[in-house]
Amino acid sequence: MTSFYICSAKNSLHSYMIRHLKSFMLASALAFSMSIFAEDKPNADEGKKIMDANNCWSCHAMDKKIVGPALRGITERRSEEWLIKWIRNNEALRKSGDKDALAIYQEYGGAAMNIFANLSDPDIKNILEYIKTVPKKDDGPKVPVTSVPTETGGDNTTLYILLALVGVFLIVLLILNKVKSTLRRLASERMPEEFPMVGSEKPWYVRWMPSGMQKMNPVVLSLFITAIVGIIGTTWLYSFGMTEIGVQKGYAPKQPIAYSHKLHAGDLKIDCKYCHSTVEYSKQASIPSLNTCMNCHKGVQKRSDATSDDISPEIKKIYAALDYNPEKNGDDAFGPNPNPVRWIRIHNLPDHAYFNHSQHVKVGKLQCQTCHGPIEKMEVVQQWSSLQMGWCIECHRNTGVDVENNNYYKALHEKAKSDIAKNNDKSKYFSPDGRVKVTPAMNGGLECAKCHY
Ligand code: HEC
Ligand code: HEC
Ligand code: HEC
Ligand code: HEC
Ligand code: HEC
Ligand code: HEC
Repeated sequence: MTSFYICSAKNSLHSYMIRHLKSFMLASALAFSMSIFAEDKPNADEGKKIMDANNCWSCHAMDKKIVGPALRGITERRSEEWLIKWIRNNEALRKSGDKDALAIYQEYGGAAMNIFANLSDPDIKNILEYIKTVPKKDDGPKVPVTSVPTETGGDNTTLYILLALVGVFLIVLLILNKVKSTLRRLASERMPEEFPMVGSEKPWYVRWMPSGMQKMNPVVLSLFITAIVGIIGTTWLYSFGMTEIGVQKGYAPKQPIAYSHKLHAGDLKIDCKYCHSTVEYSKQASIPSLNTCMNCHKGVQKRSDATSDDISPEIKKIYAALDYNPEKNGDDAFGPNPNPVRWIRIHNLPDHAYFNHSQHVKVGKLQCQTCHGPIEKMEVVQQWSSLQMGWCIECHRNTGVDVENNNYYKALHEKAKSDIAKNNDKSKYFSPDGRVKVTPAMNGGLECAKCHY
């Protein structure tokens, strides 16, 4: 009995298969190809791109603590699920009461990481895959500052201009030389007595060429050389203009008082906003007045490890600038002739560009370090980013904003919700894998007038 059933079942399956052989083959081919395409294995190269575009390396390195923890071995320390949640929205994870998230936040003295609402699960898996594959000793794509360049570091414009002038000078020299020998040849053809032929020896630059080139038609040869020199020169000039002109990256002037961010913001962990107090509600971050320093430096007159009992010469400069006499107490310690310190400004956009700190720190919820680098590690502040237009635009295209929990985007959020309800089409606000893709660019962040007066 049983065997009969099996047999007939087999039979019917068989005949069914034969009848539908074609569709079976098609379907299995389809399934096979889908299994190739749909299998989204994490891709390290993609991961690298995503990390670069999101400025992860301004706060992280592979093997070193900078602003955030070293990332090597992170996939062994934490579960993938946790990492996905953390990287996308560490604030939400902390609010959910996650113990690990709270612990690491505390460990880093409440320095918060950015929110990356725009990253999908596959994006983050790609990132983790990349982190797994970065070879040892290669400390991530961007090496954190340890030594600070000198005053003129990063501004090589004068040198480049000089080099260009030297090049032009050499070319003129060659042309003159050529003209001279042509004239000489003509002259000796017409007046052989006065201008005897100076031998038919080839000029030095011809003798240097490989023999194949020496036999070429001189016109073709010079065109050929001009073309090569032209292409190389133009490419260099173009990339020079795009990336170098006006770029002050690395600029780190010596300040009138040897104030150290490493000491104050790093070791002493003074909050950036204690001194740059307007950064959350105004365009300017502002440089603190010396009175802010005096909250501590009336009392702190030298380093704790100072060998002498004298007031530190650097602190004396603060006193001198305020016309403050540390021997006296009370109000009459301040004399009538203050002479403010002139801090040298480091970051400076051209007048035609508009940049607003509160928009980025309060609305965009960005950390200072994303743009300014590991300031709390710098003895002398240096300009970390290029501050070029391309830098602004790149970030506006790639940084996701948390539309849901941000009043500034209320209107956009409402509009998105009603759009989706009306057209039943999410594609404008969500990518196919379901992630929110609202960037500053979508909110007008690429309009010329937003950044230019
Ligand atoms: C503005 C600085 C900053 C940026 C930018 C940043 N992070 Fe972080 N990150 C931190 C800090 C600080 C911590 C430590 C926890 C804390 O204080 O919030 C951290 C923690 C982490 C952790 C957890 C480490 C651990 O040991 O548990 C991971 C993973 C991580 N970041 C990955 C990333 C990735 C990926 C990016 C880019 C998409 C990124 N971070 C961008 C500052 C930053
Ligand atoms: C105790 C006060 C104090 C604290 C805290 C402090 N700063 Fe500063 N900051 C200054 C002073 C004074 C200057 C001007 C002198 C200089 O450039 O070093 C300055 C300069 C800067 C500059 C360069 C301004 C320019 O000229 O372009 C940046 C950027 C900056 N600070 C960022 C930060 C960040 C980020 C933090 C927190 C990690 C921070 N600061 C913490 C006092 C402070
Ligand atoms: C919250 C307290 C606090 C504030 C505000 C503060 N400092 Fe300090 N500063 C200190 C302490 C504490 C030390 C000594 C650290 C040590 O023991 O090595 C110090 C050291 C210094 C030194 C090093 C002196 C030396 O001999 O090397 C300088 C310079 C200095 N501060 C300048 C400033 C300036 C300028 C400001 C204002 C922009 C400022 N500080 C604001 C607490 C403060
Ligand atoms: C989105 C990038 C970005 C972020 C985030 C950012 N800054 Fe800036 N910062 C800039 C740019 C660009 C300038 C130059 C502005 C100009 O020249 O008008 C600047 C200038 C400054 C200056 C000197 C001029 C001024 O505005 O007073 C200080 C100080 C400063 N930033 C501190 C901070 C601090 C502190 C934070 C974090 C609370 C922060 N910045 C966050 C991009 C940023
Ligand atoms: C690290 C990323 C980042 C960099 C670099 C950056 N921005 Fe932004 N920007 C943001 C974010 C996030 C917002 C907030 C989203 C918003 O307001 O729509 C924003 C918003 C703005 C807005 C307001 C747009 C609006 O909503 O009306 C202006 C203007 C702006 N940025 C100018 C600049 C300029 C100028 C620079 C370069 C000097 C710059 N940004 C560099 C991330 C960045
Ligand atoms: C997100 C902000 C932002 C947007 C949007 C923006 N710019 Fe700019 N632009 C800047 C900044 C910052 C600079 C100055 C950077 C520098 O000196 O390299 C600049 C510089 C320029 C310059 C001068 C280049 C130079 O050599 O000084 C021109 C021209 C310019 N922008 C045109 C435009 C036009 C046209 C648009 C619209 C299609 C536009 N910008 C949109 C931020 C922006």
